[in-house]
Amino acid sequence: MPSAPILVTCGLPYANGPCHIGHLRTYVPADIFVRGLRKLGRDVAFICGSDAHGTPIVVNAESQGISPETLVARYHQHFDQAFKGMNVAFDYFGSTHNPSNFVRTQEMVTALMENGHVYPREIELAYCPSCQRFLPDRYVEGECPYCGKPARGDECDQGCGRHLEPGEIKNAVCKVCGGSADYRKQTHYFFKLSSFQDFLIDYLQTLGGTITARNYALEWVRQELKDWCITRNMSWGVPFPGHNELVVYVWVDAPIGYISFSEEWCEKSGRNWKAYWKDGARIIHFIGGDIVYHHCIFWPAMLKGSGYTLPSAVVASGMLKIDDRKFSKSRGYVIWVIDDYLEKGLHPDLLRYYLASYTSHTKEVNFAWKIFADKVNTELVGALGNFINRALTFTAKNFDGKVPNGEIDPEVLKKIEAVMQEMTSALEEYEFKKMCDGVMALADYGNIYFQSHEPWKLIKTDRESAGAVLRSCLQIAKALAVFMEPVMPSKMDAAGRQLGLPGPVGEMLFCEALAPMEEGADLGHPELLFSRMEEAQVKELDRVFKERIRQADAREKTKTEEKKLISYDQFQALDIRVGEILQAERIKGSNKLLKLMVSLGDETRQVVAGIATNYAPEDLAGRQIAVLANLEPAKLFGVESQAMILAADVDGAAVLLGPEKRVAPGSKVR
Ligand code: 2FM
Ligand code: ZN
Repeated sequence: MPSAPILVTCGLPYANGPCHIGHLRTYVPADIFVRGLRKLGRDVAFICGSDAHGTPIVVNAESQGISPETLVARYHQHFDQAFKGMNVAFDYFGSTHNPSNFVRTQEMVTALMENGHVYPREIELAYCPSCQRFLPDRYVEGECPYCGKPARGDECDQGCGRHLEPGEIKNAVCKVCGGSADYRKQTHYFFKLSSFQDFLIDYLQTLGGTITARNYALEWVRQELKDWCITRNMSWGVPFPGHNELVVYVWVDAPIGYISFSEEWCEKSGRNWKAYWKDGARIIHFIGGDIVYHHCIFWPAMLKGSGYTLPSAVVASGMLKIDDRKFSKSRGYVIWVIDDYLEKGLHPDLLRYYLASYTSHTKEVNFAWKIFADKVNTELVGALGNFINRALTFTAKNFDGKVPNGEIDPEVLKKIEAVMQEMTSALEEYEFKKMCDGVMALADYGNIYFQSHEPWKLIKTDRESAGAVLRSCLQIAKALAVFMEPVMPSKMDAAGRQLGLPGPVGEMLFCEALAPMEEGADLGHPELLFSRMEEAQVKELDRVFKERIRQADAREKTKTEEKKLISYDQFQALDIRVGEILQAERIKGSNKLLKLMVSLGDETRQVVAGIATNYAPEDLAGRQIAVLANLEPAKLFGVESQAMILAADVDGAAVLLGPEKRVAPGSKVR
């Protein structure tokens, strides 16, 4: 009996901004996994699409003066282009704004309602009295009720990272007008997540994928599960069945995209979508580490409650750092896939190799142009490319571009077989770095084999033995191309053509790496697969990146300075006057402070001033100075200060300010 089909999906990118290499941290390994499974002969579908709904998209479209439709169409096309450019080959790339996703979402939500998993509840929601509207999700900012840090309406993004339910945020402020929001009652619909606790505990214990994702989710589920508000007051999104004034929350219709895109793809390719979502296929979700909660808790409960196949694995990737700093678009720590990489003429497979081989899939990857160039130059040019090219050029020169006769070294075949086993287990464990390491170890083995068998000497004395050595080397080169194809599909396809393989390497199974290179078969024309990255090129790439950080810093500085501006009214609130020092003396125990008696015309104030390092008390009587008269009194060294002297700060020492000519004490400074 054929094994169940496999469906691999990737978290849907929001159609709300350009693709950056943080995105690729999920998509590239998923693509490697799919290509690897196909090389094991499995029947795999690879599905993704853009996530078109949610408040950030509406807010962004509003700020650009365009419709959300225009915005999401633009970024949908952008992501499609970026993925194709990076050799991430989805079978289907849909959009959650497609009609079929509306139909499937409404069908599932209706099923959940009919099965008693959804109920209405009156809740208090943030409402902006001046905009006269409710404020869903990103329309509101305030304080996290759990950790007190600044938070967005639906997520504590700067603090504890919790998902926030509507109405939970404290001290709400409207994002549109900046005014304080209040809270008003409204009826919303809730999914009874709490009743899925036992199911989820059992389910998660058998869930495959990355262990960290499963363990996080289990920990959350074992604590309290709150029911989940699944409606929002908006018009952009999928209408909630029976309520045209509400749409479903974006995290309801987004994962349903996995189903509706499968349906669209099946329709186009003459398959039956139910084989994936109703009849127990193996469903594997690749996601970013920040959306584990949604995929391991909300989503399986929704599927269970409406009668669909449950995912068998959730593979969560680690985060990305750029130049050892946390990825941040606003601070400039970002590399855009199209503008900064593909359009600079860099080959997609190099970045794919970097992302897959840098570290284990669940760990944090650090990207820096210098490391990128080192990896290209040492590992791809120096080891892998060098070996394949050496074997091919030597054979072309000495054996007329044909696979030489001679027995392939049984040790070589054994080594290839061992690497194949390692790769297969690494693939099944989602350990893409191990796959790369296995192949690179084979490339090193090849280089040593070539070097130690010295075919350049042998050819002069024993042509037959030299032929056998080269045929063995070509066999290693073939295995390298087949094994590395999931990671570097177009480069390895080019290697396959140079090796004269009969079909595309992308269509070969791993086990075909062991099929002997046919004696006398024509080889292709040898060419270097990889070229060195020169220092000047690396410097230029890094310059562009550093310039972005500089600009972001400058923007941040301007923002901070803008924040410091005060209004004229605020200035008016300062009561600054000219005072005249009547008397000054040192304060016991302090080297810096003087006690001054200052006349403001109709009153005299006692003022403590930190000016003793620059001024002797005996020189001060009669001097006119600027005084902030309405500062609240404070005690310094036990002496009450009833105003503040204004002075310029010159390297930490005070230089007194005064009027240009004598004025009446108490004159107002404007
Ligand atoms: O976090 C995100 O980028 C979401 N757009 C992912 C959605 S994945 C799925 F549920 F559709
Ligand atoms: Zn918090």
